[in-house]
Amino acid sequence: MKTPVTTLSITRPDDWHLHLRDGMALKSVLPDTARRFARAIVMPNLKPPVTTVAQAAAYRQRILDAVPAGLSFQPLMTLYLTDNTPPAEIDTARTSGIVHGVKLYPAGATTNSDAGVTGIAKCAAALARMEKIGMPLLVHGEVTDPEVDVFDREAVFIERVMRPLQQDFPGLRVVFEHITTTDAADYVSAAPANVAATITAHHLLLNRNALFQGGLRPHHYCLPVLKREAHRQALLRCATSGSPKFFLGTDSAPHGRRSKEIDCGCAGCYTAHAGIELYAEAFDAANALDRLEGFASFFGADFYGLPRNANRIALVKQPWPVPAEQPFLADDMLVPFRHNETVAWSLQG
Ligand code: DOR
Ligand code: ZN
Repeated sequence: MKTPVTTLSITRPDDWHLHLRDGMALKSVLPDTARRFARAIVMPNLKPPVTTVAQAAAYRQRILDAVPAGLSFQPLMTLYLTDNTPPAEIDTARTSGIVHGVKLYPAGATTNSDAGVTGIAKCAAALARMEKIGMPLLVHGEVTDPEVDVFDREAVFIERVMRPLQQDFPGLRVVFEHITTTDAADYVSAAPANVAATITAHHLLLNRNALFQGGLRPHHYCLPVLKREAHRQALLRCATSGSPKFFLGTDSAPHGRRSKEIDCGCAGCYTAHAGIELYAEAFDAANALDRLEGFASFFGADFYGLPRNANRIALVKQPWPVPAEQPFLADDMLVPFRHNETVAWSLQG
């Protein structure tokens, strides 16, 4: 019988999809990420969104200013694609060296996406430039059509947007962000090597029952929404497959308690406080801890054409209690994922 693994040393991981917010919220959540991850792809859905390289540079500096002393963390910036993003801004993004992707939010799909894209055709010139210079397009893959069932929005997006996009821009580097369905898992698996996907820890750990476990659970509400168990299993198979097309992106998305526990609550799970530990738990449960390092520390860097990290982190299988809440804003607290419960793996040091 194999001795169960209880300690793990892996190359320092990166988070390829993260929401850091700004101001006081940024200052309160960044230490959680910087303790675990060397780098993160930072989402541009601020209010107003980060649509220019100048805005990305200023935001990057605010992030660097918020990194706690003694930690090193490198924010990898993104631009928010709009119907009017000029191709020249894509060139500026590339030469800046600080922008590593351009995010496509279908207008109205999620938090602060009102300025998002209303039709792919409107962005054709910007997409063509991205394809030409190898700038990745990061996709929130859900249609916004209110006629489409909320659980089907990702699958329908594949047919209505992803396939035509791949046809029109076959060389475009695309990250299908936070995939949640068998449909997306199959689509990405079958696509050429320039199409990859991120997978969150919460979509690996939970199915949609978690939204209604003993009552309505707003802290499990995110977008794309949790799906049924068969989809979770498919994501787990992708994440633990060893395929370089799938890599870690927490989509940690902090919202204060008062924005979550209300009549019309915000979408987003805060997972940065256990950003790597939750993945260790999911991989452990699938008997695939030997596949964690590739998923968490190698494949994302390889896809983005960045060097793999040189240093390491250690994890130990030792449960730790997650607090009920943690500081966030002057007048609001943050309810972390697994609040009042335990996470099975701990970060050492
Ligand atoms: O749950 C989500 N929260 N999904 C998103 O796409 C956006 C994010 C946020 O910014 O809060
Ligand atoms: Zn996100």
